[in-house]
Amino acid sequence: MKKTLTTLIAALFGAALLAQVKVAVHETAADQPVIPKEIYGQFAEHLGRCIYDGIWVGKDSPIPNVDGYRKDLVEAIRELKVPVLRWPGGCFADEYHWRDGIGPLSERPKMINSNWGGTVEDNSFGTHEFLNFCEMLGIEPYISGNVGSGSVEELAKWVEYMTAKGGTMADLRAANGRKDPWKVKYLGVGNESWGCGGNMTPEFYSDQYRRYATYCRNYDGNRLYKVASGASDYDYNWTRVLMNNVRSNISGLSLHYYTVMNWGHKGSATDFDEDEYYDILGKAVEIEEVLHNHEAIMDLYDPNRRIDLLLDEWGTWFDVEPGTNPGHLYQQNSMRDAMVAAMSLNIFNKHTARLKMANIAQMVNVLQAMILTKGSEIVLTPTYHVFRMYNVHQDATSVPVTMPSDSLASKSGRLFPTLSVSASKSDALHVSLANPSVDESKTVDLEFDALKPAVVSGEILRGKGKGIEAVKSHNEFGGKTAVSPVPFKDFKMSGRTLKVTLPPASVVVLEVR
Ligand code: AHR
Repeated sequence: MKKTLTTLIAALFGAALLAQVKVAVHETAADQPVIPKEIYGQFAEHLGRCIYDGIWVGKDSPIPNVDGYRKDLVEAIRELKVPVLRWPGGCFADEYHWRDGIGPLSERPKMINSNWGGTVEDNSFGTHEFLNFCEMLGIEPYISGNVGSGSVEELAKWVEYMTAKGGTMADLRAANGRKDPWKVKYLGVGNESWGCGGNMTPEFYSDQYRRYATYCRNYDGNRLYKVASGASDYDYNWTRVLMNNVRSNISGLSLHYYTVMNWGHKGSATDFDEDEYYDILGKAVEIEEVLHNHEAIMDLYDPNRRIDLLLDEWGTWFDVEPGTNPGHLYQQNSMRDAMVAAMSLNIFNKHTARLKMANIAQMVNVLQAMILTKGSEIVLTPTYHVFRMYNVHQDATSVPVTMPSDSLASKSGRLFPTLSVSASKSDALHVSLANPSVDESKTVDLEFDALKPAVVSGEILRGKGKGIEAVKSHNEFGGKTAVSPVPFKDFKMSGRTLKVTLPPASVVVLEVR
């Protein structure tokens, strides 16, 4: 870790200088934006064991289930208050033919999931299974349509099948057991169309988008929110061309950003040193600059912000767990992932003028998952706990905070803040704080504009042990839980100030009244 100027000054005048931070919380600020709950969205793809084993075990499974959905997962997901779920991919979406996933199970054709390990997909989880899952949990479905290998007619008919009250598609749906249409708001028109979604140029894709979007209709009061396939992290040209060429019949433009240092050597999810930890944090928070740059381009073409930016895939991407299928992207999840989640969500909470959705990849058993399953066992990951603790920000009014912008540089030269904070206001004021330091506690004076805190409560998430060992902590099968939130009590109230002490590598969410 390289020292920045402020850190060097601190070193000269005593380390306590930096470990003591004043954060002004402007809870009286007027006209602040709402943090859309969709910032806390999720993604579930037909990839590895995300759908099968993860969400769906089938009605005849010995694993306790609710109509085929695993019961333990349903209960855990309910707690998270997941607002939106993107499905069926990812890369899988551009090879998915929805008609294969409807009708009697025995008649559904099998296909090879060529993107993800060549696994045979039996299509037992299809449109009905997905939309019923969302309906049961009050989740807004986000359908990702096939542009790469499908046709305009196929996607148009899928929309009709899901949302129209009458006509041939509605009859077919009724024959398959569902008379009333579902409500489907979000429709992705292709995924990563620059890559696995067809290797298109932005110019060619813009034309394809316009064509496909034309025929995806609004039926019987259902209003589609159409999303164009957007850029991968630093591809600003894609955003520029799309914004220039697609001016109507579009509600959102997507963006994908994964926290991975080196695609050739991604590193272990649980075995890493301090340098690797700070490198990952630096790479994760670089999303702020990437968001800023895409937003600036969108502002040029769309100053009135009619088109939203949706980060519909994000999260950490490490080597798969030893002995697992490399195409199944199954990775463990440590306190490092929790820190990435906390710091990223604190950033997203402040970008909501343009950023209206973020879907972490993925819900279960894939990449930075909330949940891991093995047979009848389930593990809630450190990332799950951050999402549960942070769900207080969903649809709350953003509260600006001001603080010294002190940062450190990781080994690869990426900057990351020494403290990450965001706040919001609903029935109470909530402040979420993350102290990334492996070895330094931080005392934070939260100074409110007017509020004199009377009742404060909170939760803290941190690993077991000391130093980097605590950051490597993760939850394992067999009830070996090393990271789960506990009540947080290390604060003192004094007038308009709340003094909080954050232990090293910890995430805290406070409720202040
Ligand atoms: O989330 C895994 C994959 O990452 C998705 O299928 C794809 O869209 C992205 O490249």
